[in-house]
Amino acid sequence: MEASRDPDRARKLVVALDGPGSSGKSSVGAAAALRVGYRFCDTGLLYRAVTWLALARNISTSHPHAVRGLVDEVDLLPDQAGRLSRVLVHGQDHTDEVRGPEVDVAVSVFAAIPELRLALLERQRVLAAAGGMVMAGRDIGTVVLPDADLKIFLVASVEERARRRTEERGLDPQGPEAAAILDALRRRDELDSTRPVAPLRAAADARIISTDGNRFEDTVDAVVNAIRDVEARLAADPDRDPDREPKPEPSGAGG
Ligand code: DC
Repeated sequence: MEASRDPDRARKLVVALDGPGSSGKSSVGAAAALRVGYRFCDTGLLYRAVTWLALARNISTSHPHAVRGLVDEVDLLPDQAGRLSRVLVHGQDHTDEVRGPEVDVAVSVFAAIPELRLALLERQRVLAAAGGMVMAGRDIGTVVLPDADLKIFLVASVEERARRRTEERGLDPQGPEAAAILDALRRRDELDSTRPVAPLRAAADARIISTDGNRFEDTVDAVVNAIRDVEARLAADPDRDPDREPKPEPSGAGG
């Protein structure tokens, strides 16, 4: 029993981590991946990189094939810990620009383009193929990696997410910028969850983790524990189909 919990003996999983904007997917996912020795990929960066490039080139969403063509120009670069957290365009680092406010406003509209989603699908699957990967996004558990060993969906109220983002940016919580952040998040939630292709939603077999009122470390612990739990179950039962995580209880694991 002891040996089955040895992380060195466990097969490294493919973990899908989804949730709305500013639910903490990137920071929580990166921290959890580091703790379990997995790679981490924030797929939102791919959508942001293409959006940034389209805005820079004046390519509008009414030219989906031109937008799709930009996919080959963007790359993600791992940092020393193996987290795919840097955006490269033709070898130049543009990570800061793709996180800027112009991209914030436009990215959901670009992310709704089916041709773009299709072009990024294969890229994301290739990145996850070797296992030992926490992949964060909106449709990872539902579309990109429907056979993931573990699916987690992070939820938090829009007010809490706006408050966190306001704090991250060092803004006055009562000021107009804070109100604009709340509005923008509401708008992105609406666009991301109502688009016809791969809308934001939890997979039926995802564990739901609510982060409202959680400390950052609590949420990281919840994700790490879920990964360890599935690793241990797979290691303990060699007869289990190693590619399938059993369906959790319908209520999910809770926060
Ligand atoms: O997580 P983020 O805010 O960086 O995501 C940016 C946008 O990309 C967001 O509008 C949703 C979209 N996105 C998506 O549609 N599918 C993903 N797998 C990741 C992000």
